[in-house]
Amino acid sequence: MEINFEDLKVLYSEEQLQTRIKELAKEMNGFYKGEEVIAVCALKGAVLFASDLVRELDMPVKMEFIRLSSYGSSTTTSGKVNAVDIKLPDLNGKNVLIIEDIVDTGLTAKFLIDFIHMNFHVKTFKFCSLLDKKITRKVDVKPDYYGFDVDDKFVVGYGLDYDGYYRNLKYIAYKEG
Ligand code: IMP
Ligand code: MG
Repeated sequence: MEINFEDLKVLYSEEQLQTRIKELAKEMNGFYKGEEVIAVCALKGAVLFASDLVRELDMPVKMEFIRLSSYGSSTTTSGKVNAVDIKLPDLNGKNVLIIEDIVDTGLTAKFLIDFIHMNFHVKTFKFCSLLDKKITRKVDVKPDYYGFDVDDKFVVGYGLDYDGYYRNLKYIAYKEG
């Protein structure tokens, strides 16, 4: 699949994204009630979402970054999750909030959820994804918080890439046709 900037159609605009992120943060602020949160950003895709989201949180926040990969340069999942870099501090007793870009097959989310629970006794665990592509789910996982639904489209922008490109778009787009 080839993607050109000219073919891209906006799916969720900058304004829609920013409005929704504020709503999500408001829900989270209500849930955590000022307690410290460890926000774990799944690189690279969630980096823009995480940086906008944490700026709306009103409790003490520490940020951690992990890197997993399941996609090569194609648009279909490889079915395998690679823990490229998953070094984390001691999360025992912490409020852990995972921040992802999209839940597609759910394999990455499942891997992360299992990884945290196998290694730590956290105080609370929440999984937040900007996008939820329910139709392509292969394992039964549901984000605790998510921004928008996506049907069976390959989307780019606002952190999500095609072959490394388009992460810098301010909006979520898809290729028409
Ligand atoms: P999963 O493990 O199949 O749920 O896929 C999760 C990862 O696949 C995400 O973190 C993304 O990096 C990537 N991914 C899935 N769908 C898309 C898409 O539509 N556009 C860009 N990346 C995607
Ligand atoms: Mg990703």
